Amino acid sequence: MLTIDTLCTHPIIQAPMAGGATTPELVAAVSNAGGLGSLAAPLLSPLTIIEQAEHIRRLTDKPFAINLFVQARPQVDLAAVDAAKQLLQPVCAELGWETVPTPTRWCEDFEAQLDALITARPAVASFAFDVLHGSQLQRLHDAGILVIGTATNLREAIVWQAMGADAICLQGVEAGGHRGTFIGAQEESTLSLLELLAQCRPHLQVPIIAAGGLMDGKDIARVRAAGAQWVQIGTAFLTTTESGIHPSYKQRLLDAQEDTTRQTRTFSGRLARGLDNRFMQLMAPVAERVPAYPIQNALTGSIRAQAAKDKNTELMSMWSGQGVARTRNISAAGLMAALIRESQA
Ligand SMILES: Cc1cc2nc3c(=O)[nH]c(=O)nc-3n(C[C@H](O)[C@H](O)[C@H](O)COP(=O)(O)O)c2cc1C
Repeated sequence: MLTIDTLCTHPIIQAPMAGGATTPELVAAVSNAGGLGSLAAPLLSPLTIIEQAEHIRRLTDKPFAINLFVQARPQVDLAAVDAAKQLLQPVCAELGWETVPTPTRWCEDFEAQLDALITARPAVASFAFDVLHGSQLQRLHDAGILVIGTATNLREAIVWQAMGADAICLQGVEAGGHRGTFIGAQEESTLSLLELLAQCRPHLQVPIIAAGGLMDGKDIARVRAAGAQWVQIGTAFLTTTESGIHPSYKQRLLDAQEDTTRQTRTFSGRLARGLDNRFMQLMAPVAERVPAYPIQNALTGSIRAQAAKDKNTELMSMWSGQGVARTRNISAAGLMAALIRESQA
């Protein structure tokens, strides 16, 4: 059976990034360049997961990964939803709306997504937000799929290893997008990538994948010297030609001259890092009161869709890591070539 170490020519994973960034073109371009492209599927329906995997296969015969958030079906309390809609009033006022519509659906069904992933049979499946049950992990292994678990602290890394993950992705606090934390408070998993690597390395026998703030080959060389076998890079791929993010969001990333990111739970109900903007500022006073993921994520969906229509980056979620000032306007193949060249220099 393949192991993560023998999978690709270069130990570079293009991070799964939900919300449209990881188009089949991006995933395939990275895999064709000798890395491991990842399709972010947390927000995709089971049918779309299968269709996108087929699309990727039309563009590459190389291995690729599919990623999911491990999540239970949410318990929805309609009174709490009404209260949460009230908290969004300052943003609704900006849009001239009375309130946000109540979503008809809060999230995809994880079990059905996992079935679709197994049907799509990528070489690798990666997971965040929780750990799989043993039987779920066994199903993936029986299908010949390698499993990567995301950890933001030592306890999570040890749990994923004990469950049988083939590699652990350590996500430092610099990382863009959502924290994968599932043991302890998200606000307390604050270790930088190098601190996390130093703490986890003595306890892990499986390959370590380093994620968070890695933007160039020098960064890659640094974390590999600190004990990571692989790297997972997100933000740097957001500004590639093949990335599917909104053009105005892409431009904001390319224009960034310094790190203006911060962590917020106001968009989704889970702590996530992105460029600071008006939405975050308006919602900061009630940040502790918004409902947990996925309720808040679904509730803000209509706002983010309207912001995209209006090209209004101030009300979009512009997830990004702390390395944002070093993004490049480049193709995915160009970025892969640069990362490989720089890390070998
Ligand atoms: C726009 C965006 C969306 C993300 N979505 C996901 C996701 O769907 N699943 C996941 O496991 N991680 C997700 N992440 C986290 C990345 O997988 C990775 O940990 C992070 O991008 C690494 O930090 P960097 O952006 O500084 O390179 C996302 C990150 C970003 C920037």
